[in-house]
Amino acid sequence: MDARTPTQSLTVMTDLVLPSETNPLNNLFGGELLARMDRAASIAARRHSRRITVTASVNHVAFNRSIPLGSVVTVEAKVSRAFKTSMEVYLDVWIEDRESGLRDKANEAIYTFVAVDETGRPTDVPPLTPESTLEIERFNAALRRKQLSLVLAGKMKPKDASELKALFV
Ligand SMILES: CC(C)(COP(=O)(O)OP(=O)(O)OC[C@H]1O[C@@H](n2cnc3c(N)ncnc32)[C@H](O)[C@@H]1OP(=O)(O)O)[C@@H](O)C(=O)NCCC(=O)NCCS
Repeated sequence: MDARTPTQSLTVMTDLVLPSETNPLNNLFGGELLARMDRAASIAARRHSRRITVTASVNHVAFNRSIPLGSVVTVEAKVSRAFKTSMEVYLDVWIEDRESGLRDKANEAIYTFVAVDETGRPTDVPPLTPESTLEIERFNAALRRKQLSLVLAGKMKPKDASELKALFV
């Protein structure tokens, strides 16, 4: 399978925050943002693999900033590393100022998707070749995050998490 670049999976979704999507403080409800990120990440994983993709895990979410009612929110998703059948998808969330039009980073998240066949069985995905400095940084750290996710899910023994152990020795 030919390698693909993160740009080939880039998915950008822009939408407003409506009253039905807010919490009692009139900020975007966390679950609504998770759903928007899941949809964008799913499309990015599908663009990379050209297969059916399912969410295997949400590895990290940082709700650093609240997002007020009426905000214009942009979710950008790109595959940051492809493994055998799984892909890490990195998400950046931006809000834009109405008057200046400038964008501010609001949140970020990392999801894992698995490509599956019509029966739901995991199937191989093409490799990923990162290009920009940021893409290379995210690619290099992705194996460590995969091992952490597998250890937390009880699918890998901590003693086998070589990349994680390397952080502490
Ligand atoms: C995700 C799923 C296909 C994995 O199936 P599985 O039988 O565990 O398959 P495997 O053990 O072969 O794992 C497949 C890949 O997923 C990775 N994976 C599985 N669980 C993971 C986790 N918690 N974190 C990170 N990666 C994970 C494995 O490391 C493997 O990656 P690789 O092939 O690139 O090395 C299966 O668990 C599933 O269908 N889950 C439900 C998905 C779903 O419905 N999502 C929406 C929730 S509402």
